[in-house]
Amino acid sequence: MSNYPIPEKLIYQGVESFGTPLWLYDRGTIEERIRELQVFDAVRYAQKANSNLSILSLMKKMGVVVDAVSAGEIYRALKAGYRGGATKKTPEIVYTADIFDADALALVKEHQIAVNIGSPDMIPQLAEAGIKTELTLRVNPGFGHGHSRKTNTGGDLSKHGVWFEQIKDCMKLAQANGMWISGLHMHIGSGADFEHLSKVTEAMREAARHLGSHIRMISTGGGFPIPYRESEEGNRIDINAYYKLWDDTRKQIAQSVGHSVSLEVEPGRYLVAESGLLVSKIRAIKTMGENKFYIVDAGFTDLVRPAFYGSYHKISILPQGSSVLGEDSDVIVAGPLCESGDVFTQEEGGYVVSRKLPEAKVNDLLVLHDTGAYGAAMSSNYNSRRLAAEVLYSKGELHLIRKRQTFEQMTENDRIVGL
Ligand SMILES: Cc1ncc(COP(=O)(O)O)c(C=O)c1O
Repeated sequence: MSNYPIPEKLIYQGVESFGTPLWLYDRGTIEERIRELQVFDAVRYAQKANSNLSILSLMKKMGVVVDAVSAGEIYRALKAGYRGGATKKTPEIVYTADIFDADALALVKEHQIAVNIGSPDMIPQLAEAGIKTELTLRVNPGFGHGHSRKTNTGGDLSKHGVWFEQIKDCMKLAQANGMWISGLHMHIGSGADFEHLSKVTEAMREAARHLGSHIRMISTGGGFPIPYRESEEGNRIDINAYYKLWDDTRKQIAQSVGHSVSLEVEPGRYLVAESGLLVSKIRAIKTMGENKFYIVDAGFTDLVRPAFYGSYHKISILPQGSSVLGEDSDVIVAGPLCESGDVFTQEEGGYVVSRKLPEAKVNDLLVLHDTGAYGAAMSSNYNSRRLAAEVLYSKGELHLIRKRQTFEQMTENDRIVGL
């Protein structure tokens, strides 16, 4: 089986047509992941993972609803064809955040977007804006989990959600402002740790007691891991076991209130990560003392996860032209930025490490795998680097779903003032 979700021939074709660095996504992989999760009553895509309009539109086509964490994400969801409607049984768009800014509040009001409250202060702010609606509450159960300190979304050092001891206060606040809370959400990044997950389900049952018969929905949040490392390949999350754990929880809550309670999941990474490749070109090969470096034309302005979290991405090389790959040796893979942290082979804390990679030549392609989530979505213009093009592989063909940014677009909002 190929190492790539996309046939190699099409990777070369993509590079020829659209240049490097280039994001390539496989539609089939995304559809496969969606189908696995469709046992849940609703799959709500955390679009922060990859909010390209074609990806959102594919989600919609597959019956997936969407989460938005900013005004911009509401805008994208609307552009992709999702509609507001906070009182629908499963709202198509839910705004989940710890604050409203003016833009978000305006869009929530205009399109009646459902809101998942992350801070008590948001409740009176809705009322002041003339919005009265059914709400859900993102609860911080007092403990967290996560693969990095930066992804831990629970506990008293996390800014996310409403502290579990304040649920009752939020209910009163909602009531005082003519609103009510009908759902609970707990995204704390448990991943596939079932021991930890059972603590989360217990916390959910506890939190649900406060809502009593108001409760209509619980959401498990996201956090489904994917096997980034070769060694993790065999231990994918057991979706059936995950479903069972949460289905039992939902049934217990439903039984105690005497009516049905729907069960949502809110994955980002799981749906898109494995569909994506970041294709770069090796532009320099050099040695620094004992260390060999491949310097490629993609940097942390494209893929920030290694620099930000010490994340691991599989790396492979595709030879170009008549180039033939040689023996494996230890290589450090770095990007072009004027920034010493611009290294793809690093661990959490910024420790640079090497990777066994075949001997390659300048202009060979270097591919970073499993980059469909938190890749393009976290890109930036730092060092005045243009945002890379994105391409979707669907039904045997490549489709450009975002053009490479032009220098003109990059500078169009700058103004030179007469000083
Ligand atoms: C509220 C919320 N839901 C869902 C997700 C998606 O997480 P993941 O991509 O790990 O599934 C996140 C990630 O930060 C989140 O904050």
